[in-house]
Amino acid sequence: MAMRIPARGAGQESVLGALEGFRADDLKWRTGKAWAYVFDAGREAEEVCKKAYAAYLSENGLDPTAFPSLLRLENEIVGMMASHLNAGPEAVGNFTSGGTESIMLAVKSARDWAREKHPEIREPEMILPHTSHAAFQKAGHYLGVRGVPVAVDSETMRADPGAVRAAITPNTILLVASATSYAHGVIDPIGEIAALAAERGLLCHVDGCIGGFVLPYFRRLGAPIPDFDFAVRGVTSMSIDLHKYAFAAKGASVVLYRSKELRRHQIYACSTWTGYTIVNPTVQSTKSGGPLAGAWAVLHFIGDDGYLELCRRMLEATRELAAGIERIDGLRLAAQPDGNLLAFASDTVSVFHIADEMTERGWHVQPQLAFAESPATIHLSVNPSNTAWVREFLEDLRASVAAARLLPPSPLAAMAKTAVSSLAGVEISEQMIEQLLAMVGLRDRALPKRMAPIHELMNVIPPELRSKALIHFANGLFTPPR
Ligand SMILES: Cc1ncc(COP(=O)(O)O)c(C=O)c1O
Repeated sequence: MAMRIPARGAGQESVLGALEGFRADDLKWRTGKAWAYVFDAGREAEEVCKKAYAAYLSENGLDPTAFPSLLRLENEIVGMMASHLNAGPEAVGNFTSGGTESIMLAVKSARDWAREKHPEIREPEMILPHTSHAAFQKAGHYLGVRGVPVAVDSETMRADPGAVRAAITPNTILLVASATSYAHGVIDPIGEIAALAAERGLLCHVDGCIGGFVLPYFRRLGAPIPDFDFAVRGVTSMSIDLHKYAFAAKGASVVLYRSKELRRHQIYACSTWTGYTIVNPTVQSTKSGGPLAGAWAVLHFIGDDGYLELCRRMLEATRELAAGIERIDGLRLAAQPDGNLLAFASDTVSVFHIADEMTERGWHVQPQLAFAESPATIHLSVNPSNTAWVREFLEDLRASVAAARLLPPSPLAAMAKTAVSSLAGVEISEQMIEQLLAMVGLRDRALPKRMAPIHELMNVIPPELRSKALIHFANGLFTPPR
């Protein structure tokens, strides 16, 4: 039976009760045992944020002249983030729905800036260290800016300024660096990359989506954080997410520019239709005031002193974790972390089996596939709610490594590797992908409890095939019940 709008309206209780029930199988992030997906500063901050969000849920950011409250909230939040990142008095920015949108807008501004300043460039390029977030490639895909991948230092997992320099061509418009990178939690050599951009007359975006908010606090706590923000000459734009370590509700990020002159290229206006006036600084047109009010509320509720304390806890916990991981036989840090994110690898045990073993023990950790300079790793994003669990986590990790050591590698991965190499040059069909996914038990839409066979398979097949398999999977996943 096809899904239909319910014939008759139901009571509030029954509707809300049903929604609550749907969550039974969701990730149990409130336990503090999940090391990804939800950024949790505790019940009180969550409550304030939710109340503010709900209060502004229906206001519409489509027209800031009709809702001056929203304009005020946005300008105040952007102002706070600009000062936090040492931007000068000329800096401007906008509130966006998330890191991906902030990055898309920065890439759009770069593209349209180049169209004006360098009309001779027909196929613009941006230089993307292998560790830069996938959102840049997505932005390039949407906007027609070619991402030029460059190797990173395999010891530090930081971008390599020499490789960036070598990749610059007459088509280059934008250099990209991260502070910090998601996968390994390290800060790229922003000073050198931004100086290179300034020397060549290029734009330079620093992705502070995950690190931008916390790094200034880590520095105040004595961590050796190099200059990474607008204090660095040559940095022209930055992204900083509030729905990560500012603990705002999802749908909250800021994109910042050194000046209006660059931000001008971000804004879209349309006067060639019959309806209301359209002038959109961001991708969305109609947008709820909820995320904006939630973010403003949580910034005021936690405050600078509160964030400093939360950052102290996260930094200490990350250091303890890093030291503890290095003491576990068979594990090594994939890079020395600069903040509160880290990744570890193993040369002797499958990290995918380790992740499954951790799941068995009630934890959620995030496996990352091997790519370019990075081996397969397990990633941890440390939250305030995780900090009470460091000792137990390390004990279970040690036990998980011992258990994983006894598990054989998936024979499917080896088979798939041979099969894929025999297919070199052959166009991969949807049917072949379906067979591949069926081999690892991915029929229908349910994921198996133990994910190692799937991860191991994905880990050995080429990245293009990974992406095709993922698209195929998602195309099936988002199917209405029939
Ligand atoms: C460094 C970095 N950039 C960009 C993003 C993308 O942000 P979002 O998932 O909010 O779109 C993330 C997300 O984790 C990130 O860590």
